[in-house]
Amino acid sequence: MKIATIFGTRPEIIKLSTLIPQLDKEFDQVLIHTGQHYSYKMDKIFFEELRLRDCDYTLNIGSGTHAQQTGKMLMELEKVLLYENPDMVIVQGDTNSTLAGALTASKLQIPVAHVEAGCRSFDRRMPEEINRILVDNISEYLFAPDENSYKNLTCLECFPPEKVYLVGNTSVDACMRAKQLFNQETLNYYSLEKGKYILFTLHRQENTNIEGLKEIINALNEISKQIKVLFPAHLRTRKVIEENNIKIEDNIILTDPLGYKDFMGLLTNSKFVMTDSGGIQEEAAVLNVPCLILRDNTEWMYYVEIGKNLLLGTHFDKIVEIVNNLLENDEKVTEIEKIEIPINQGATELIVAILKKQEIK
Ligand code: UD1
Ligand code: UDP
Repeated sequence: MKIATIFGTRPEIIKLSTLIPQLDKEFDQVLIHTGQHYSYKMDKIFFEELRLRDCDYTLNIGSGTHAQQTGKMLMELEKVLLYENPDMVIVQGDTNSTLAGALTASKLQIPVAHVEAGCRSFDRRMPEEINRILVDNISEYLFAPDENSYKNLTCLECFPPEKVYLVGNTSVDACMRAKQLFNQETLNYYSLEKGKYILFTLHRQENTNIEGLKEIINALNEISKQIKVLFPAHLRTRKVIEENNIKIEDNIILTDPLGYKDFMGLLTNSKFVMTDSGGIQEEAAVLNVPCLILRDNTEWMYYVEIGKNLLLGTHFDKIVEIVNNLLENDEKVTEIEKIEIPINQGATELIVAILKKQEIK
């Protein structure tokens, strides 16, 4: 069976990093990178660190409006898929690359497998929510990462159960595989001490408009009076900060995006992480680092439901109040750390096994 795996952004590269080598072993795999992310620190660094092979195609689509980016991807992907004629296309997650890959394939009547299917924030203002819903609806194989996403598909949205597989999240496999390699020395580089700093990331479209970003950064400035903060900024966010001269206090270390090994080393040793990232919510839970989510909702509700991760919202007062409260009451952080979660490894192997069965049919 010939499989085309299509992706284009940082989290897709990381979350596909365990699957890609396995698919190479079992199938004839064509790797197609849309080029949605292209800067070294958003793209190539992860291929090097995670020892991924070169892509067969890199489409160099780059940045643009949603329509420009997705439209260009559709045109270029169609050429490649017509030429390669794969039996199946695999996409991961909820980005414009995910949507373009699935849509191009389904129009060519190539079955689509969606890794990380069924996640829902129930907030259609998020471009990712639109992408997820559309991709799930044109996929033949829906690989759900957790019970909530499995139920969203089978109970709420009435997908035929035989199309939906509860496999777990490949990000857990990536995280556990790379754990030995997490860089602990990066702490010294930034003069940070274990448990004495907050890791902070922010990049969602809803949080990076000028006013929204200023409000969240103002809250961070206030929090930084009590504790050091390390802020590896996504390039989208960095651009808005620089173009608008948004003030960042001295106790906040603003850096370029970090490689996976450095980032995960810094996550492991932080007191807690504040983020609007999807992927980091699960990684924090797996590494037992409290995660404060800078959003009003999340597609990763399981950890919020059990009290492991907290929904902080995006308003100055609430962010400062909750964070300062945690900083002043260490026992609250310890309580969160004591909540045990199951660490479900093996999504990668399950997906490969399911695809192999389809091949025999
Ligand atoms: C995209 C995904 C988002 C995912 C995120 C992971 C969509 C709609 N959004 O958001 O779901 O969480 O990736 O990080 O697909 N830029 C660079 N260099 C790069 C990439 C981006 O400078 O390599 C800058 C450009 O100014 C660009 C901006 O970041 O305009 C936004 O990039 P884009 O790919 O459109 O969206 P992300 O915010 O990265
Ligand atoms: N990450 C990284 N360096 C950074 C920030 C994040 O390696 O400076 C990793 C992080 O460990 C996770 C992934 O990038 O695996 C999350 O990507 P992002 O937050 O951009 O996207 P999302 O998960 O929200 O789609």
